[in-house]
Amino acid sequence: MKIAVFNGSPRKENTSAMVDAFTEGAKAAGHDVQEYHVGKMKINGCLGCGYCKTKGNGQCVQKDDLEKIMPAYLEADMIVFASPIYYFAMTAQIESAIQRVFCVGKPLKAKQAALLLSSGSPGVYDSAIAQYKGYMAYTGIADAGIITAYGDENKSEAKMNEIREFAKKL
Ligand SMILES: Cc1cc2nc3c(=O)[nH]c(=O)nc-3n(C[C@H](O)[C@H](O)[C@H](O)COP(=O)(O)O)c2cc1C
Repeated sequence: MKIAVFNGSPRKENTSAMVDAFTEGAKAAGHDVQEYHVGKMKINGCLGCGYCKTKGNGQCVQKDDLEKIMPAYLEADMIVFASPIYYFAMTAQIESAIQRVFCVGKPLKAKQAALLLSSGSPGVYDSAIAQYKGYMAYTGIADAGIITAYGDENKSEAKMNEIREFAKKL
């Protein structure tokens, strides 16, 4: 299946290691995986103007890097959100992307999703997971799994293996 991974980290460190392990496992299982590093893109917040629901016919009035991820969002059979925890939530960059894909409503094909979260401390995932679950409920997509890594788990071989094995079973 086609898997689109949206990486909300503004840098290429702990979250990217999780994304790389996921990609390795999923590719080994024969899936077509593409990463979109939204943390490094320029995606503005939603203006709430309603243009997409009226004159825009599903198109956003703002022209920015959202255009780089939208085709993948619509075409993917599976969507993976990956983000570091910033102040008990996902990054502003991935939040912007999630709120902006609202312009098309639900993805056309995706049947499942997964969440990869990296943090400094344990027990800081509640709001990111609540948001992800809300998104699942809204879109009707099923959760395939949530994997978190904190502190020394980040980039550890044990955690990378766990992610690879998870992705291989998809
Ligand atoms: C602005 C900012 C806020 C953060 N807030 C939290 C937090 O609330 N809880 C936590 O455990 N770690 C927090 N961290 C640590 C990161 O989640 C952690 O270092 C993560 O592994 C970074 O992932 P990355 O290497 O992909 O950027 C924060 C880091 C930054 C830069």
